[in-house]
Amino acid sequence: MPKKTQPKKTQLKPNVSAPVDTLFLHPMGAVEGFTFDRSVAAVFPDMIQRSVPGYSTVVAISGLLAQRFAQPGTQLYDLGCSLGATSFSMAQAGTQDCELIAVDSSKAMLDQFSVTLSEQNLPMPITLIHADINTIKIERASVVALNYTLQFVAIEQRVKLLQKIQHGMVTGGVLLLSEKIQFDDTSVNELFVELHHDFKRANGYSELEISQKREAIDNVLLPESLQVHRQRLIGCGFSRVEVWFQCFNFASLVAFK
Ligand SMILES: C[S@@+](CC[C@H](N)C(=O)[O-])C[C@H]1O[C@@H](n2cnc3c(N)ncnc32)[C@H](O)[C@@H]1O
Repeated sequence: MPKKTQPKKTQLKPNVSAPVDTLFLHPMGAVEGFTFDRSVAAVFPDMIQRSVPGYSTVVAISGLLAQRFAQPGTQLYDLGCSLGATSFSMAQAGTQDCELIAVDSSKAMLDQFSVTLSEQNLPMPITLIHADINTIKIERASVVALNYTLQFVAIEQRVKLLQKIQHGMVTGGVLLLSEKIQFDDTSVNELFVELHHDFKRANGYSELEISQKREAIDNVLLPESLQVHRQRLIGCGFSRVEVWFQCFNFASLVAFK
């Protein structure tokens, strides 16, 4: 296994337009569990861009996939929509008589999403729902996005949620699933975790920010392996599952009904 290398000088392009995430900048003493509250919502675009390798590609391609798979007269869902980046990308698919339903359990996220939404003129209407995705109905769905959300759902609830999504889809429907993943081989796992931290360092996060964020999110974000995701999706009735993007320990899959 290659030795850990720390890119000392590499700086990736900063996201200059968003308020900067400084939530973990100072020593915190006791680090509390991570929640999607108002302080996170305020810096979320910067946080996710600097923390998730390939995030903007995944958002953009979710729109392309929605364009291909949205069917007239159906619904599109963005589950765990946060501030609506994936929703806005998917809503560009101006397919006839489609509606996009964006769901999140964080009121802070939806309040901000709602403000941005009111300033947009989109080819597809978006309805915001403040709810736990485990409790909502999924009906006549042609495209369902779960971009970095399933990882926050309790592991024992994941089968039921994915079965519900599969049952609520029309024939030809697709699930777009993006997740932080882990690897069964410990040394491979450690390498990808370190590479992810290199990515965060290159984006300006300090060692303290990286370690405090890790502590906050450790028992909240529960990653699984690609093999576990594939097998569970097939077990939930999806006919085919393909990985369409991966960077380090972040992967995006498409599951076909
Ligand atoms: C990492 S963010 C998702 C990012 C977003 N999909 C995007 O593309 O920008 C995870 C989101 O899922 C939401 N979430 C987590 N568990 C949820 C649940 N059970 N029901 C609804 N929303 C949930 C959080 O509030 C948060 O806004």
